[in-house]
Amino acid sequence: MKNPVPLPRIGMRVIKTAVAVMVSYALFLPFGLTYREELGGVLGQMGPLYACIACIICTQSTLGQTFQQGISRLIGVIVGGALGTATLLLGTALENLWVKTLVLGAVCVAGVWICLLIKRPTACGMACILPCVILITGLTGATRYYYAAARIIETIVGLLIALGINAALPDHRPEGQRGECDMKVEVDNTTKKLCVIGDPVEHSKSPLIQNTMIRELGLDYLYLCQPVPRGKCKEWLDCAKFAGYAGFNATMPHKEELVPLMDELDADAALIGAVNTVCIRDGKAWGYNTDGEGFLRSLADEGIDPAGKHVLVLGAGGAAKAVCLKLAQAGAEVTVCNRTVDKAQAICDHDPAHLYPAGFDTATLYNKAQSCDVLVNCTSLGMAGTKGQFEDFSFLNGLKPGVPVVDLIYAPAETELLRRARQKGHKTVNGFGLLVNQAVLSLEHFTGTEINAAAMKKVLSGLL
Ligand code: ATR
Repeated sequence: MKNPVPLPRIGMRVIKTAVAVMVSYALFLPFGLTYREELGGVLGQMGPLYACIACIICTQSTLGQTFQQGISRLIGVIVGGALGTATLLLGTALENLWVKTLVLGAVCVAGVWICLLIKRPTACGMACILPCVILITGLTGATRYYYAAARIIETIVGLLIALGINAALPDHRPEGQRGECDMKVEVDNTTKKLCVIGDPVEHSKSPLIQNTMIRELGLDYLYLCQPVPRGKCKEWLDCAKFAGYAGFNATMPHKEELVPLMDELDADAALIGAVNTVCIRDGKAWGYNTDGEGFLRSLADEGIDPAGKHVLVLGAGGAAKAVCLKLAQAGAEVTVCNRTVDKAQAICDHDPAHLYPAGFDTATLYNKAQSCDVLVNCTSLGMAGTKGQFEDFSFLNGLKPGVPVVDLIYAPAETELLRRARQKGHKTVNGFGLLVNQAVLSLEHFTGTEINAAAMKKVLSGLL
């Protein structure tokens, strides 16, 4: 026997859309708002139809995309409403159907042109539909204004409902696809170029993070991944300037090599002796370091203030240096424990009054853990894809109750160190906050736009 035709699956996308449409319809009913001419004015033109349309379109996407869709629809409604009502100026000329035909074409061209000019292609539909409805249905006089105002109100209501539904119900996409379709960035000839350089760099999460933020914020930038061999920063910088890059991030092993190549260096890059963000403005290279400030902000996000505290830092690599110097600057006393004590000593030499080097043996770690108020792991021990792991976690037994344990590692989300610390009742913080905060600071430098890091954290938490 032949298999019966399979029924389409009723997934979360369908459920969300149905709920959104029902809510947007039901919301108008208690007010008797169902297009009743006798109500007059804007109210007489008001009904749930466009709220339903807005909900249907918006709930087809994720929460972040919903917002962008909604804004685009609103822009389309405003552009279309303005164009439609502007046809009032033609007065009785519109009574000639051939004139009306030409006007219809002209307002559609104008609507599409305006929306593309302001880089809102998804606004084109409403920008054309509205003048068409106004002209074809023969709405006259002030009713056209009421009609446009009603559409704007309905669209806002629809957008708010769609946002609520998308926030309340789970993401409709399968786990593995979350983030993938968020990576679509519109590119045209004016799009400004950004990238991350490194050797190797293919593993970098920066393109995913930055392109997601760029799309969320509606910025006209594109962020690429650019391998640059060790020792070739000078050549790359010349290329980037010539190719018109707006800036780039740098990861291993370029952060130190970039320092003397900068035309201008910010205070943190000079303090840490490393550049992770380069902005190219008028042919000049401006070097920044956002790692240290990103770390302090990630502590602040968790309610941890290092001022006057004793912080135990494990590790003395590049990341540890940024963390230690900014902690000292923020008023903390920092003990730096490292397997290679000379490297800990080298960091502490920058600020001997606040930074103290120590070894990495079990007894030293236990001893230093006893007197610390915050513990920060800056070693690569426990990181996914590396073999290294702490040989002995007994130093955790030395910690006072309530001491937060921070790990700069974000993959895995919970390292063995954090797992054991959590089981002992300590507050634990992974490296996700640092990752997002340093990226947000970089994008702020690149674009000059102030960015809400908490909102970006929410958007990115599903991706990384
Ligand atoms: P990053 O730039 O991320 O800081 P890094 O400069 O390679 O990376 O630093 C890695 C840190 O992890 C160093 O402090 C390193 O100790 P050494 O300076 O002695 O190499 C530390 N680390 C790596 N593997 C380790 C291990 N098996 N035991 C102890 N520390 C280790």
